[in-house]
Amino acid sequence: MLYINLINHDLKYEVSELIKLFTNNFEFCTEKNFARVLENRLLTHNDTIISTSRYYTNYEMVFEEKQSINVKDLDEEKIKKLTKEMIKRTIYKVLQKVYNTYVPWGILTGIRPVKIVHSLLDEGYNYDYIKKYLSENYYISDEKIELAIEIAKRERTFIYPIDENKISLYVSIPFCPTRCYYCSFPANHLKTYGHLREEYSNKLIEEIKGISEIIKENNKEIETLYIGGGTPTALEAKELDLVITSLFKELNLENIKEFTVEAGRPDTITKEKLQVLKKHNVSRISINPQSMNDITLEKIGRGHKVQDIIDCFNMARDLGFDNINMDIILGLVDEDVFMVENTLKQIQKLNPESLTVHTLAVKRSSTLKENIENYELTQYEEMIKMIDLSMEYAKKMGLNPYYMYRQKHMLGNLENIGYAKEGYECIYNMQIMEEKQSNYAIGAGAISKFVYVDEDRIERVENVKNVEQYIERTDEMLVRKRKEIKKNVN
Ligand SMILES: C[S@@+](CC[C@H](N)C(=O)[O-])C[C@H]1O[C@@H](n2cnc3c(N)ncnc32)[C@H](O)[C@@H]1O
Ligand code: SF4
Repeated sequence: MLYINLINHDLKYEVSELIKLFTNNFEFCTEKNFARVLENRLLTHNDTIISTSRYYTNYEMVFEEKQSINVKDLDEEKIKKLTKEMIKRTIYKVLQKVYNTYVPWGILTGIRPVKIVHSLLDEGYNYDYIKKYLSENYYISDEKIELAIEIAKRERTFIYPIDENKISLYVSIPFCPTRCYYCSFPANHLKTYGHLREEYSNKLIEEIKGISEIIKENNKEIETLYIGGGTPTALEAKELDLVITSLFKELNLENIKEFTVEAGRPDTITKEKLQVLKKHNVSRISINPQSMNDITLEKIGRGHKVQDIIDCFNMARDLGFDNINMDIILGLVDEDVFMVENTLKQIQKLNPESLTVHTLAVKRSSTLKENIENYELTQYEEMIKMIDLSMEYAKKMGLNPYYMYRQKHMLGNLENIGYAKEGYECIYNMQIMEEKQSNYAIGAGAISKFVYVDEDRIERVENVKNVEQYIERTDEMLVRKRKEIKKNVN
């Protein structure tokens, strides 16, 4: 057990997030009476703030790292930020010596590393300065710096210039044929909730009508449309048709740049449903294997086989879908690098336009989390090999990294990367990650994000998660959004 003693500050949350990159076996303390102690002390002397981290074993100091910053003429907010970063840096340096672990994102524990690159570019800094800043300030590895910069460069051609009148629209379909063991998304099991699909679709259409008024009142223009979930194709073909028809009837979708539907699970896809999507000019669909190993699909509760994925993919191609994404997850139960390679090889044969590579996250309300003691999670070093392999295959498939994010509780605190062929990047995904555009979101469990770029402020408005509650309280979901928008107009 490593005991952590913070002196003259109480940044427990930030420090915990950092320490978790090295070990989960730690506790905070207020004294030195333990075999292993990491102490961080903060001192202020005139305009200088000093952070000292020391590692003791049996009362003897083994490692020390000291850094200071001059805060003359800086405002309180800036001082707070710089102090926090300095504390994390000195702790990181000491932990590096104690654990000798490769932590590629350095002290960065936030979920959107590329956002930092965008902010620095917005402030007028050049790439050389940014590389140096990311390396010296956050201790990010050269390889990850290159990745973040490559993605930022690609994203900027889609995101800038920022137009506050443009928004994206998200429609949530919170049903799934079964719940996958790792998942915490809104995924109401069809067996129990399937009978609510029709009523849900009707209520959703009510919310579409309401959101259409809100969009008109505020002179917003929809840039991208995204139907996700859950699994949108868990609706019957007739219901899918009704919902999409209503979207086109109620909203002005003339100028949209992209229309994505997560077809997701092959066991929900039929020719009829794909024909409905085609009829409505859906431009991008996702057919998600997660793994191309039958044994894993069974263990994660997917309820379909590898062959179903291949058949669905080919059926979609035959129907003319020319922009198909596939999602995979690295670190699934009992998968090693060879199994991941099999997945990638099979995907390579299918040749999708984009591939999204997730690193398993142990989500709070997932079956995985509930039964975590029965699983042996992939070791960090193995995870790195899997990520490297997926990068290699993406390159071979002609796919470039175009968006990236990290999640809390991810194995090794690594990253999720979206790869796409040139011209097939999903604008919706990039806008969601970089948060420079508002996202209006409807349906159960949908969370709208109102972005106020000038004020560097984001407000979230949540719809209720529970489908039955949503059906009862659809009007209230619209009132919530109206209220938030009104607050900011007056
Ligand atoms: C909202 S889910 C919907 C996808 C669709 N229902 C399906 O299962 O194919 C989007 C993607 O997030 C990823 N995902 C979900 N839970 C995850 C977890 N705990 N760790 C890593 N990736 C996860 C999966 O790759 C999934 O395809
Ligand atoms: S991964 Fe997809 S199908 Fe599985 S439970 Fe989550 S949303 Fe549903």
